Amino acid sequence: MSSLTTTYMGLTLKNPIIAASSGLTNSIENIKAIEANGAGAVVLKSLFEEEIIMETKDNMNKMQASGFIYPETLDYFDFDDMEDPVANFLKLISDAKKSVSIPIIASVNCVTADKWPDFAKRIQDAGADAIELNIFALPSDFHRTAEQNEQLYFDIISRVTSIVKIPVSVKISPYNASLGSFIKRLGETPIKSIVLFNRFYNPDFDIYTLDYTAGTVFSTPAEFAMPLRWIAIMADRTECDLAASTGVHDGNTVVKALLAGASATQIASTLYKNGFEHIQLMIRQIEDWMKEKGYKSIADFKGKLSQEKGHDPAAFERVQFMKHFKDLKR
Ligand SMILES: Cc1cc2nc3c(=O)[nH]c(=O)nc-3n(C[C@H](O)[C@H](O)[C@H](O)COP(=O)(O)O)c2cc1C
Repeated sequence: MSSLTTTYMGLTLKNPIIAASSGLTNSIENIKAIEANGAGAVVLKSLFEEEIIMETKDNMNKMQASGFIYPETLDYFDFDDMEDPVANFLKLISDAKKSVSIPIIASVNCVTADKWPDFAKRIQDAGADAIELNIFALPSDFHRTAEQNEQLYFDIISRVTSIVKIPVSVKISPYNASLGSFIKRLGETPIKSIVLFNRFYNPDFDIYTLDYTAGTVFSTPAEFAMPLRWIAIMADRTECDLAASTGVHDGNTVVKALLAGASATQIASTLYKNGFEHIQLMIRQIEDWMKEKGYKSIADFKGKLSQEKGHDPAAFERVQFMKHFKDLKR
């Protein structure tokens, strides 16, 4: 009988399938179902930094007085009707801890380093096993340089890790000019893991109505090519654990992520499309593959096809691209 146990950011997971942060991880009912179907851990739906900052009307007034928000912004909020997202989030953490035994990872979607990190202590006090920082620095602000965008990550990490004792991870986007060097430097901070990669909402066009429409909300399996490449390249070049996110839809793809050197995978789209029961099938697929290959534990094959440990480091390089495409005909 093979063991699927893995360690991820210092936590022991019974298997490497984590329910990624999404609308599905926002209720106790779903978190229980995710555990019942066998997931190794769950990342809660992100709390947004703005929600932390606007926790009370008092804070809003203070921010207004300090010039942090415009008075008109207040017109958009009906405080009597507004639910308290922060209280709900902290309650979800503590209720989840009472309801399930798999690790609960709390996620914060953050864009600044100085307004909210003290809140991280309240996440820890609510009982979260770990914090995932979903840092959003889309490089489309023409006034900010690449260095300034990167510095934001290091400032947030430094503030949060100086406040909490629980492990911290960072979920990044692939939009970075020197991704390899950036991931390497992230790995030199006190964070315990990096999630490669977040997948953002993309706008689309309707060419007949000339309207903006929503792009595809869910990933396709083909999108896994990017996390696979970067996990394989980075696995032996950082001390951090790596988690693969985007395009993991079945157990064989989890196997690929582990072969590349990931410690875990995070799944969202496939849960929306196939339901929580799909986790059971994914686990069976990993077990069947391990049985066929004679592997008893994940350590037996983790990182076997990483760029450094694998038998063909050039597979990830430009030369391979040239070789592969030169003979293609239509
Ligand atoms: C409907 C939906 C909501 C999401 N909400 C969040 C979120 O609040 N925080 C976050 O870090 N990622 C969020 N994600 C991104 C997922 O966690 C995941 O990284 C991404 O969807 C790629 O994985 P997938 O290919 O398995 O969907 C969301 C994804 C979807 C589809």
